[in-house]
Amino acid sequence: MAQPATPQKVKVLVFAASLRAGSFNKKLAALAARVAARSGALVDHAAMRDFDVPLYDEDREKAEGIPSGAEELKRRLLECDAFILASPEYNGSMPGTIKNLIDWTSRFRPQPFDGRHGLLMSASPSLAGGNRGLWALRMPLEHLGARLFPDMFSLAMAHKAFDADDIADQALRARFEKNIQAFLSLAEAAKHYPCMKRAWVEFLGEPPGAGADRVDPVSP
Ligand SMILES: Cc1cc2nc3c(=O)[nH]c(=O)nc-3n(C[C@H](O)[C@H](O)[C@H](O)COP(=O)(O)O)c2cc1C
Repeated sequence: MAQPATPQKVKVLVFAASLRAGSFNKKLAALAARVAARSGALVDHAAMRDFDVPLYDEDREKAEGIPSGAEELKRRLLECDAFILASPEYNGSMPGTIKNLIDWTSRFRPQPFDGRHGLLMSASPSLAGGNRGLWALRMPLEHLGARLFPDMFSLAMAHKAFDADDIADQALRARFEKNIQAFLSLAEAAKHYPCMKRAWVEFLGEPPGAGADRVDPVSP
């Protein structure tokens, strides 16, 4: 396949699924944004507040449409090739706020998560670093066609893990940076050598039929 003379940079949306002012996940997302920019990506560093939405209510959707916070996430996802999401773990799963936002955003057609490359990370004071929440988060995102990177970074003991400017432990910091760079390399390869996937079908194995189909026939 012919390549443009100057390959376009990968554009990546980075945000944390926490509203808390002193959020560890916000810190981790900010570091990820910095590493991604240093690695040559174009970074859109967003805040969860940019995507404020009410609780999902199908009646409300019918009456008022999809709220502006979800519209904003859709717009910024579509402008990017990839996203990096740092999410807290709540009760062994993802916070309800991020699931609610994903649910609203999934109502757009074309469905905006489809084909986006995603890297998941978490930070928690616990020894597991919030990793279980990321496994929960994989399910709706992969259901929606996001291409999630297999390696997820979970920062354990987050209340002790940062120094003033970075992840304090050098070896851990190097692992964090390598993980982001590996993810961006894959997103870049996919951008320049798009894979065959063209259609998003919500339930691939379901007998096709107008009544049940939730299909985007052509996606970028
Ligand atoms: C409702 C609730 C449930 C939580 N459940 C978990 C949990 O299951 N696992 C965990 O590691 N931390 C849990 N925590 C602690 C969070 O990891 C901690 O509050 C973390 O700082 C939240 O992320 P943030 O700093 O980015 O806001 C929970 C916190 C709250 C408020």
